[in-house]
Amino acid sequence: MTTFFDEVQEIRKRYPAGARSATLPALRLAQEKHGWLSREAIEETADALEVTPAFCYSVASFYDMFHLEPVGRHTIEICTNLPCALCGAQKVVEAFESALGISAGETTADGEVTLRAVECLGGCGYATVVAVDHRYRQNVKAEDAAEIVEGLDA
Ligand code: FES
Repeated sequence: MTTFFDEVQEIRKRYPAGARSATLPALRLAQEKHGWLSREAIEETADALEVTPAFCYSVASFYDMFHLEPVGRHTIEICTNLPCALCGAQKVVEAFESALGISAGETTADGEVTLRAVECLGGCGYATVVAVDHRYRQNVKAEDAAEIVEGLDA
């Protein structure tokens, strides 16, 4: 049976410049296995990379795609950077908050949906961009929120 440690060693082989270069894919692997990056998951990753947990935490806390708290079965992530903000991202956030009954940064009480306001998703020409379970939706308007929420399990 291949362990997490073994899988990280395979990843490390792809980065001859050093273990630190393998931090992003190793953290991604840890998140895929655990669903989020708990303190234990970060320590396990650091051990496998032979770096400090503080280094792994500094990387994980920089990037929006890493979850440092448990997330729901579905994630809705709304870009609120400048181009999206200029196209009404705040109204989109508020519409999703209203549709889900939670604030951005929270998970519904049933653990189904996590709503997050995030940094640029790389689709600035199609603002507002919303990632629904990692699939990007473009030109999202506030009036689209309820339909997107209703379609989560479709
Ligand atoms: S600013 Fe929203 S995708 Fe870049």
